[in-house]
Formats: sequence, structure tokens, C-alpha cells
Amino acid sequence: MPRIGQVGLGYWGKNLVRNFAELATLAWLCDASAELREQFAGRHPEARVTASFADLLADEELDAVVIATPVPTHYPLARQALDAGKHVFVEKPPAMKGAEMEELLELAEERNLVLMPGHLLLYHPGVLKLKELLDTGDLGELLCVYSNRQNLGIIRRDENALWSLGVHDLSVILHLVAEEPDEVVANGNAFLNEGVEDVVFCYLRFPSGKIAHMHLSWLDPHKMRKLTVVGREKMAVFDDMELERKVTIYEKAPWEPAGTYGEWRTRTGDIFSPKIPNDEPLRLECEHFLRLLAQGPGDHVEARDGLRVVRALDRLTESLRG
Ligand SMILES: NC(=O)c1ccc[n+]([C@@H]2O[C@H](COP(=O)([O-])OP(=O)(O)OC[C@H]3O[C@@H](n4cnc5c(N)ncnc54)[C@H](O)[C@@H]3O)[C@@H](O)[C@H]2O)c1
Repeated sequence: MPRIGQVGLGYWGKNLVRNFAELATLAWLCDASAELREQFAGRHPEARVTASFADLLADEELDAVVIATPVPTHYPLARQALDAGKHVFVEKPPAMKGAEMEELLELAEERNLVLMPGHLLLYHPGVLKLKELLDTGDLGELLCVYSNRQNLGIIRRDENALWSLGVHDLSVILHLVAEEPDEVVANGNAFLNEGVEDVVFCYLRFPSGKIAHMHLSWLDPHKMRKLTVVGREKMAVFDDMELERKVTIYEKAPWEPAGTYGEWRTRTGDIFSPKIPNDEPLRLECEHFLRLLAQGPGDHVEARDGLRVVRALDRLTESLRG
């Protein structure tokens, strides 16, 4: 079993620890907080506990590092870990600048190390279903995608709605469209904390003409975690707030009857929800990382996905502030 060390044992980190403790050998736990170190030392006597990330890097027996610290620390910690020859799982987004992510990818390639960003939704069975519906041609040609990620939720002071919420939808949209946008526009405003946009609308246009939109906000009456995919033949909705009907397929589409020359009609048929496995996306994500450790990084598909996301975030931020 691979030996894993994790830095960051906060709100999200504890979920990663739970999974890796069950799936691998948890060798090190690291956090700056003495209180968290004490708590986790009690729960995981099998792991060594430290405040210093350098202790993990100095352990020659350690195979991989899991980084679940705040976003600005991701790039420097991931860089140090790759430099020390460790495989890396890093929470999203792995860096705050496209150039930094390019550097991480180059380092991982040079050293043949796994570099996997924690784009959780890419392992969600509902999102896998959407991708399958597109890949098999079931929805027909993909025309547009839009997402709603709104909630009167945690009001953050360090990350804006684009970086905190948008990173999830962006990873899925880029995965489904499988192109990099050639035009990005973001508009928004910081109503509560100066410089931290709490409401952001983003528009992306891709070289093939496909378009996408994201509504990201923590000032909203609705709690929405929804992605709508419009294909030429059918439409599909992934709704993560639904317990059972995570994906709904609408047999709705425009059609042009033969001989009517440009006169479009609409067709409406069944609406149905395929069975989506109940597996925990985080468990699937952790298993994927362990599979990469066993098989090797291959073409660094995951890190390249991460690079596309960071690049798009970078460009959207420029547009938002422009
Ligand atoms: N995939 C998801 O759905 C999801 C959900 C929530 C958070 N996250 C991500 O998880 C990461 C952590 O978020 P969180 O909400 O758990 O934050 P948090 O503030 O609760 O926890 C971060 C922890 O990191 C520790 N830390 C910071 N710098 C450190 C350092 N240099 N060395 C050792 N310890 C250090 C802090 O003491 C803290 O305990 C973020 O990148 C966030 O984007 C992902």
C-alpha cells in the first residue's frame, strides 16, 4: 500500500484523511494548528504528526503528499513536494496563476510524478453520466452548457465566488466541451467585502461555437448546484441538490421537417432519470489517485485538466477586474 502524508486537516482535509486512512497507509499528518494535530494524533495513532511540512518531504519512504491547505499555499507546497520526488494530490485549484500551474506540470512530467488536482465533480457519477451521454451521441451535438451555483452560504473573505465556486463548474464545463475557450467574459461585484466578488456571471465561447455560462453567488435566495446541457437531440440536467434524480434527460429538441426550409418546430418526448450509482465522489476521487500511483502518471491528463481550469480562471479574473 502506498504511504501517504497529508498537510491541512481543516474542514475539507478531514474528509480526505478519512478516505486515505481506509484506502492507503496514512504515514504523516501535518497542520499548523496544535489543536488539530492533537485531535488527529488521537484518531490516527498509525500516523506521525507534525507542524512542519519539511518532515514529510524528508521521509524517503513516503510516496505521496495530499495538500488540503488554503488556496494560496497550494502552488508553493506542491512545488516543494514534486521537487522532493513525491507524487502530489492537491486540492482545487492547484495554483492561482496559469504560469505556476504550467511549472508544476513541467516538473511532474520531468520527474514522472503524479500531479492530480482535486476536481471532485469529475469523479461524481452524475457528471460521468453526462459525459457518457455526450460521448455516445445520445444528446446529439453539444450546443451550450450553463451552471447555477448559488446559495446564501459561507461568506468568504479570502476567495471570491469565481475562485471558490466557479472552479467546480469550470472543471466540468471544460471536461464536457473538451476545448479551451477562445473568449471569456466575467462580470460581478463585491457587495460585502471589498475586493471579494460575491456575485459573478461568466460567459465562455469555444472555438467550435459552443457557449457556456456560470452564475456564481453566495447572495441568493436559492440553493442551487445545477448544470444544464443542451444538445441538438436531447437536453440533460445534473442537479446535485436532488437525492435520487441527480440526472434528468429531456427528450426535447428543435427539428426542421423535411421540405419546410428553415422552419423550425419543437419536439417534446419523455423525461426520465437514469439510475446513478450512489458512490461517494470523494471516495472515487481518492481511489483514482491511488490508481495513478499504481499505474504511473501516463500523459498527465489530470494535471492538464487542472492547467486548463487555472488558465480559464486566470483569464476570467482579468476580465472581472478589467
Ligand atoms: N473539493 C471540494 O469540494 C472542497 C470543499 C471545501 C474545500 N476544498 C478545498 O480544500 C482546501 C482546504 O479548505 P478548508 O475549507 O479545509 O480550509 P481550512 O482553513 O478549514 O483548513 C486548512 C488547514 O490548513 C492548515 N494549514 C495552512 N497552511 C499550512 C501549512 N503551511 N502547513 C501546515 N498546515 C497548514 C491550517 O492550519 C488549517 O487547519 C482549499 O483548497 C479548498 O479549496 C475543497
